[in-house]
Amino acid sequence: INVGIIYGGKSTEHEVSIRSAKSVFEALNKEKYTVTLINITKTGEWLLAKDSQEIVSLNESNSEKLSVVPSIGLTAGGEVIELDAVLPILHGTAGEDGSIQGLLELADIPYAGCSIRSSAVCMDKDMTKRLLQLSGIDVAPSLVVNYYDKDALKYEAAKEKLGIPMFVKPVNQGSSVGVSKVADEDSFYEAVDSAFSFDTKVMIESGIEGREIEVSVIGNEELFVSVPGEIVSQTDFYSYSSKYLDENGALLNIPAQLEDETFEKIRQIARETFKVLDCEGMARVDVFLTADEKVIVNEVNTLPGFTSISMYPKLLEASGMPYTEVLDKLIELSLE
Ligand code: DAL
Ligand code: MG
Repeated sequence: INVGIIYGGKSTEHEVSIRSAKSVFEALNKEKYTVTLINITKTGEWLLAKDSQEIVSLNESNSEKLSVVPSIGLTAGGEVIELDAVLPILHGTAGEDGSIQGLLELADIPYAGCSIRSSAVCMDKDMTKRLLQLSGIDVAPSLVVNYYDKDALKYEAAKEKLGIPMFVKPVNQGSSVGVSKVADEDSFYEAVDSAFSFDTKVMIESGIEGREIEVSVIGNEELFVSVPGEIVSQTDFYSYSSKYLDENGALLNIPAQLEDETFEKIRQIARETFKVLDCEGMARVDVFLTADEKVIVNEVNTLPGFTSISMYPKLLEASGMPYTEVLDKLIELSLE
C-alpha cells in the first residue's frame, strides 16, 4: 500500500507538525506500506523528502517539487506518484481546516480523518461551540468579536458577562498559539491585539475552574473511544511552551483518576461530540471537569498532535491500540 504523509505547512504549528510526522513515519509498519514524504514548506511549496532524516531537516534546493492535479493526483516532473491513501499530518490553518481535505478530494486521493466540512467546523472554535450548544452539550460561556467590531469591545462589559479570569483566543488556531489568560484591563486589550494578529475573529471565554481531560476517538460509523487522560499543567495554563518546549510543562495522567461514573460520562460526551460535529476517522475531544462534576467541552482537534509525547496516540495505546495499529486503522478507515 502506497501511503503519503503530508506535513509541515504554512500554519503557526509547522514545527509541531514536523514532530508529529517524524513519529508517524517511525511508527508506520514499513513491511505493509511504501511511504512518500511530502513536505509543505512555510512558504507553501510542496517538496519531496527523501528519508526520515529529511523530515526534520529538508534540503530544499535538492528536493523535487510536487504538484497536485485535479482528478489526476500528486505529480513530480509530470509523472504521477501512486498514492493509495494520505495521512495529512498537518495542524492548524491550511491543513486541519478542510483546505487540504478539499484538495485531496479534487485529486481523488483517499485521506485519513475528517471531511472538508467537519474539519472546517472544528477548526473554528466559535462554530464548534454553537453546534455543541444546540445539541445540549455544555461549553464555556464566551463572546466573539470580529475585527471590524474590535473597538466596541470593552473590558468592563466582558468582565461582567464572563467573570475573571478570561481566556482570549484567536478563533482559528491550535496549540494555544495567540491564547492569553487575562485578569485585568491592560492585559485584556494586549491579549485582544495579540489574538487579532492571528485571526480576524477572536473569542473571549470564561476561565473554567476544572480539571483538563482529553479523549481520543477513532472510527467512522463504529467508534472506538479511548480512556480519558488528564493534563496537569505546571504553568499558568496549558500553553504552547508547556505543550512542546518545557519538558516539565505538563504531566499527563493516563488514564485520568476518576470515579467510574464520571469516567464513562466523559467518554460518552466525547462520543456524542464527535457525532454532533460529523467527524470521521479521528478527533481528540478536550473537556473540563468542574468541581461539581460538570463536563464542559473546550474544543475538538481533528488532526491532533502525533508527537511521541502526544495525548492522541498515548490515550489509544492505554486503551489497547498501540501507535502502529492506530495508523493501520486510520489508513483502513480512509479506504472505506
Ligand atoms: N493542535 C495540536 C496539534 C493538538 O491539538 O494536539
Ligand atoms: Mg486543547
